[in-house]
Amino acid sequence: MLVAPSILSADFGNLARDIEEICKAGCDLVHVDVMDGHFVPNLTIGPVVVSAVAKATTKPMDIHLMVENNTFFVDLFAPLKPKYISFHIEEEKHPHRLVQYIRSLGIKPAIVLNPHTAPESIEFLLADIDMVLLMSVNPGFGGQKFISSVLERAKRLKTLIKQHNPDCLIEVDGGVNSENIHDLKEAGVDIVVAGSYVFGNRDGYKQAIDSLKV
Ligand code: DX5
Ligand code: ZN
Repeated sequence: MLVAPSILSADFGNLARDIEEICKAGCDLVHVDVMDGHFVPNLTIGPVVVSAVAKATTKPMDIHLMVENNTFFVDLFAPLKPKYISFHIEEEKHPHRLVQYIRSLGIKPAIVLNPHTAPESIEFLLADIDMVLLMSVNPGFGGQKFISSVLERAKRLKTLIKQHNPDCLIEVDGGVNSENIHDLKEAGVDIVVAGSYVFGNRDGYKQAIDSLKV
C-alpha cells in the first residue's frame, strides 16, 4: 500500500516543517486538497501556498481538485509539476477532453468519484487515466467518518480496471486509519490518503505511515 498524507491536517503555521517530516517518515506522495468554496463548502489553498509545498517536498505531489471550474485550476497548478491532478467527475461536462488536456501538460490524469457515484459511470474513461480516487467521505473536510460502502465500490472498480486498463491505480480518500486499512487492501486499493490519522498521531508520523503500509 502506498501512503499519501493529506496536508489539510498539517500545521499551516509550520507547513514546510510538516512536509519535510512526512517525507522523511516515508510517505509516497503528498496529497494536496484544493477547495474553491463552491463545489464544496470549504476553501483551502491556491498556487502561492502550493508552490511552497512544491519547494518543501521531496515526494511527488498528488493534487485533488474540489472545484467548479476544473480547467482554470489545472492551468494554475500545472506549472508546479505535480505527479497527479485529479478532478471530480460530478463537476465536469467533458471529462474525456480534460483527461487528454492534463496528459498533454505532462501530468498523470486521475478522476475522483464522490461516495454516491458508481464506478461504472467512468468505465469508458478508464483506458485513458492513471488513477481513480474513490472518496470514502463527502469531500470538504478532514476528520470525517469512513463510509464503508467504498469497499464494494473498490472491488467493482477493480473488476472494470482489469478489463480496461490494468495499470490504473485505485486511491481511497477520507477517514482512513489502521482499523480499515486491511479491508482496503483486500478490496484492491493501491494508495490511501490519510490526513487526521497521520498528522494527529501521538506516536509520530512514521509510526502512523508504517501502520498503513500493509
Ligand atoms: C476531504 C479531503 C481529504 C481529507 C482527508 O475532502 O479530500 O483528503 O483531508 O482527511 P482525513 O484522512 O482526516 O479524512
Ligand atoms: Zn483529498
